[in-house]
Formats: sequence, structure tokens, C-alpha cells
Amino acid sequence: MKQLHKQASVNQRRDEEIPSNLASTYSPKALKHPRSLPRSINYLFKEQRLLFILVGILIGSTFFILQPTLYRLGPSDPNNPTTSISRSFSTAHDLVSKPTHAKVGRIPVGLGKRRLRIVVTGGAGFVGSHLVDKLLDRGNDVIVIDNFFTGRKDNLVHHFGNPRFELIRHDVVEPILLEVDQIYHLACPASPVHYKYNPVKTIKTNVMGTLNMLGLAKRIGARFLLTSTSEVYGDPLEHPQKETYWGNVNPIGERSCYDEGKRTAETLAMDYHRGADVEVRIARIFNTYGPRMCLDDGRVVSNFVAQAIRRQPLTVYGDGKQTRSFQYVSDLVNGLVALMDGEHVGPFNLGNPGEFTMLELAEVVKETIDSSATIEFRPNTADDPHKRKPDISKAKELLNWEPKVSLREGLPLMVSDFQNRILNEDEGKAIN
Ligand SMILES: NC(=O)c1ccc[n+]([C@@H]2O[C@H](COP(=O)([O-])OP(=O)(O)OC[C@H]3O[C@@H](n4cnc5c(N)ncnc54)[C@H](O)[C@@H]3O)[C@@H](O)[C@H]2O)c1
Repeated sequence: MKQLHKQASVNQRRDEEIPSNLASTYSPKALKHPRSLPRSINYLFKEQRLLFILVGILIGSTFFILQPTLYRLGPSDPNNPTTSISRSFSTAHDLVSKPTHAKVGRIPVGLGKRRLRIVVTGGAGFVGSHLVDKLLDRGNDVIVIDNFFTGRKDNLVHHFGNPRFELIRHDVVEPILLEVDQIYHLACPASPVHYKYNPVKTIKTNVMGTLNMLGLAKRIGARFLLTSTSEVYGDPLEHPQKETYWGNVNPIGERSCYDEGKRTAETLAMDYHRGADVEVRIARIFNTYGPRMCLDDGRVVSNFVAQAIRRQPLTVYGDGKQTRSFQYVSDLVNGLVALMDGEHVGPFNLGNPGEFTMLELAEVVKETIDSSATIEFRPNTADDPHKRKPDISKAKELLNWEPKVSLREGLPLMVSDFQNRILNEDEGKAIN
């Protein structure tokens, strides 16, 4: 009994030693033995555990120190896909500054050095399809964007199945996101019959389409080439026309949707160049002819050739004394590529300075296709320029370019293409 009492008093003393605020809550930590620290140090030293930890830290630090060096071993080539991907991301968020060509790390397995990737808007049309042939021939990857308003799949069918070629049905008045190095912007109906068909759409294509493609060029740091036209000179008061001539254009006429549309497109290109550092190129194209032109599109060469093949009279508007210069399509394509690859913004006149009246052209067509063809005169169309002839000294000097194919050499080259298509059409076999 005495012993029990003694034990109870000892317990009571212990209780008194515990601080009053802890007395009510049980905590094993509070009661831990102070000797636990040396015990964990002992644990570390046992069985070479400390040594293993140090070796682990050493390996980890070595990896993180070497990592930047591994990145430097990655690609520095601007054509590298990973580089351009990073470029697009960096510029997507930075709409004002010049696109940065940031370097990124290792190339993902399976991706090698890639070829130049090029977009051609309007690539299913007459000029566009010849340009696509040239770009694919020289080893580029080509993406064509076209809404097939005047373009035809037939013009590109020989590239279907080529892994370096892609065709997208798309209207350039809507934005599109692509990853490319160069943009050739051709999308726009070029013949009066087609661009007057829906003038509001024509000006939309010229303004909104060009804005969209310039926006894309800015975002991804691509070089942008605009195919403008000699129509920006209107009915010229200067002859021949130099690039310094500002033109004589009717802003409210039937052709204004095209002429003023292209003039606005040039303005947009220059503003993106000056204001947003986009690398732009401007070509002012003069009358061009060749295989794959639309039949009956109202352009004088295709009209005459188609009429001569069908044994119809050649239609001459007005007195036939108005002049034009005619360039074969391969010359134009060479000029466009020289401009895109060169270092000069332009604008550059691309045309053949050989000058012909409509009546002289009719004579060449008769000589080439049917000497018995007759001529039929009709009233002239509104705002038809009286004369047109490019001064190409700037392109000769800075692009080292000049046309090589004369009208008498070029015309026969388009005749067999027209003959086949007219034959197919007559037999109801045309695909488009
Ligand atoms: N051929 C010439 O003599 C000549 C002269 C001066 C300028 N140009 C310019 O060269 C370019 C090509 O001319 P072309 O003769 O090959 O004309 P084209 O009509 O044969 O080709 C134009 C192409 O653009 C496409 N297109 C039109 N609107 C479009 C849109 N909204 N979205 C997507 N695609 C669209 C058409 O379907 C067609 O494939 C045009 O910009 C034209 O203004 C040509």
C-alpha cells in the first residue's frame, strides 16, 4: 500500500515537469529522446551510405553542367525544321518585333536537314502552275493554296503523288497557318473577264488575301513575293513605263477592282516591310502567255490562238493599234525566282519589251496557226490602255534577268496545248 502511494507521487512529480500547454495533447515527437540526432548520423556513416549520396550528387551535377553544351551541338542551320518551329512560336507572341531565329536543342530522331518549303497561292492557275514546276524541279517542297476560281487541278495533276508537293483548297481571304520559308502570292484572277465577274470579290482577294499572306509571312518570318501588275500604271502617260512612274489609274472604273486592288496590295507589302520588317519582293508583271492559259478568258493572246484553232475570226477591240508587250511564261517564272532569291525589294517590271500592236499580234497568230484566219473589229472596252511597254533596265541590272523567248518562238509552244484542250472540250472530255 505504501509502495503504491510512493509510485503515485512520483507520477505526479513527472506530470508537473511537462509544460502545462502540452500536457493535454499527446505528441510522440515531444517525447523523443534527444539522442536521436547522433543515431541518424551513425546511420549515414554505416555501410558507405554517405559515399553513395556524394556519388549521386556528382553524377547529377555533371549532367546539368553539360546540358547547354549538348544544346550547342544542335542545329544552327536556319533551314532546320526545329529552328523554324521555335521561330514561329517566338514570333506568334511578338507581333511587332522582327522574328528571332532562336536556336533550339537536339533534332528529334528521324528528322534530318530539310529542304526549302515554299507556298504558292494561286498555284493552280496559269503562271502559278509553271512556277510550281520550276520550284519542284529545283528540289524545293511546294504547297499550293488555291480556291480553283480560275485555276484547274489539271494544271498540277502531273505532281499528284510527288511527296514534295501538297495542294490545299483554300480561299486566301480567310487566314491560314502554315510553316514555310517563302510565300509566292499569286492568288487573284488575272483576266478582265474573270476579275470583272465579281469585282467585290476581286478587291477582297487583293486586299484581305494579301493582308492574310503578309500576316503569315510576318508571323513565321517567311519571305513574301507579290505578283503585282503593269495595270498599276493604268493608261500610262509615260512610255515605256519605269518603276518610278506612279501611274494614271481610274479609281472608280470597271477595272479598278483589279488595278486599285493591286496598288493597295503593293502598299500593304511596303508597309509590312517598313513597319514590321517583313522581307517583301514586288513584281509588276506585263502581259504573259503560254500553255495552260484559260481558254476564252478575254486575254488577247489566248483569244486569238483559241479562235484561230477553232477557225473563227480573230476579234480585235477598237482599231487594233493599241500596243502590248508579250512575255513567254518561262521567262516570267525565271524572273520571279530571281527576284525572290535576290536581295532587292523592288518593284521590278517583269515583261518583254518587244512591242506589238494588236493587228501585228494577229498577223503572228495567223502565220503560226492559220494563214486564212480573218479579223473582226469590235468596240473597245472601257479604260483599255493605249500602249504598254516595260522598261526592264532595273531588272537587268539588279536581278541579272531579261526575257529570252521571242513571240515567234513562244507562240508555237502554246499551240499544241490549246489544240489538245479544245479537242477535249469539243469531245466533252474536259475534266474541269
Ligand atoms: N498572266 C499575266 O499576264 C499577268 C499579268 C500581270 C499580273 N499577273 C498576276 O499574276 C498572278 C497569276 O496570274 P495568272 O495569269 O496565273 O492568273 P490565273 O487566273 O490563271 O491564276 C490565278 C489563280 O489564283 C486562284 N485564285 C483566285 N482567287 C483566289 C482566292 N481568293 N483564293 C485562292 N486562290 C485564288 C485562281 O483559282 C487561279 O488558280 C495574278 O496575281 C495576276 O494578277 C498576271
